[in-house]
Amino acid sequence: MRILVTGGAGFIGSEFVRQIIPEGYKPIVVDKLTYAGDLKRLKEVRGKYKFYKADICNKKKIEEIFAREKPQIIVNFAAETHVDRSIINATPFIETNIKGTQVLLDASEKYKIKKFIHISTDETYGEIKKGRFSEDSPLSPNSPYAASKAAADLLIKAYIRTYKFPAMIIRPCNNYGPWQYPEKFIPVVICKALQNKKIPVYAQGLNKREWLYVADCVAAIALILEKGKIGEIYNVGSGVEKRNIDVARSILRMLGKSENLIQFVKDRPGHDFRYALDSPKIQKLGWKPKVDFYEGLRKTVKWFTSNSPRGFREKR
Ligand SMILES: NC(=O)c1ccc[n+]([C@@H]2O[C@H](COP(=O)([O-])OP(=O)(O)OC[C@H]3O[C@@H](n4cnc5c(N)ncnc54)[C@H](O)[C@@H]3O)[C@@H](O)[C@H]2O)c1
Repeated sequence: MRILVTGGAGFIGSEFVRQIIPEGYKPIVVDKLTYAGDLKRLKEVRGKYKFYKADICNKKKIEEIFAREKPQIIVNFAAETHVDRSIINATPFIETNIKGTQVLLDASEKYKIKKFIHISTDETYGEIKKGRFSEDSPLSPNSPYAASKAAADLLIKAYIRTYKFPAMIIRPCNNYGPWQYPEKFIPVVICKALQNKKIPVYAQGLNKREWLYVADCVAAIALILEKGKIGEIYNVGSGVEKRNIDVARSILRMLGKSENLIQFVKDRPGHDFRYALDSPKIQKLGWKPKVDFYEGLRKTVKWFTSNSPRGFREKR
């Protein structure tokens, strides 16, 4: 099967590309290479994938790629992904996450692709104080980022219903691991700590997130690609919940640094307090995370210790 991966130079997309190549795929990677995209993430599989530098919003270019490559499967990771940036300027989020998704859907419909796997997020459900969101929970996004992702999900659901479009939607919880761009919480804490700089933590750090090691998330996506049912939505949660402050303290302990580096800062506007997923459908397919949270965190700390800041520079 010819597989086209958008956002394959990003954090999760590149892990997906690295994992499927040994399974016999030669992926076609389409990525705009925004500040968050970096082909260095694919250096260990150089020559084993085909690359197009392209914006998923560019209908003409995307159609040309579809016409030339005739992909049968699309996996859409391409997105603007940082909540804080979406609060400063929502426009690129609306463009890429909604309009870009529409361009991919229309090209996929025109070229009659067999499967379209869309990577969404747990943030589309909004926050939950107690309990867990199921795949049937209503969408109630709170940030411009989450709203743009929810809009794309609704558009895909409409295509499934209207055109019998062969899509599946995956909603993972917070990922972490090597190669994550150092604007997201875990790499920020590690990189700042390594430089003995103050570590910004919103409010009192009590917000809770559900954490999943990136290789485990990608294993779930690969399983859904193989065994998932067209038209379905799959939550991918680890069940591992941590308060931000506890994650920061764990990292500081691993690095032998003082907790005095933590600096509480004014809370993010509209900050969701807690996300938590029930993931019965992916568990039924036989998936569970393999990497324990502290093992994954140690691996991530070790990776950033040898790759930051020179190997993978913070850019703005
Ligand atoms: N990281 C997480 O914790 C997490 C959790 C749940 C869901 N997700 C979703 O998973 C997907 C991947 O997230 P990530 O953390 O790897 O993101 P990332 O920001 O690391 O990577 C995004 C990639 O998309 C590319 N891109 C952005 N705009 C583009 C455009 N217009 N055209 C083509 N390429 C474009 C970027 O260059 C980059 O390579 C996203 O859809 C995100 O919403 C992420």
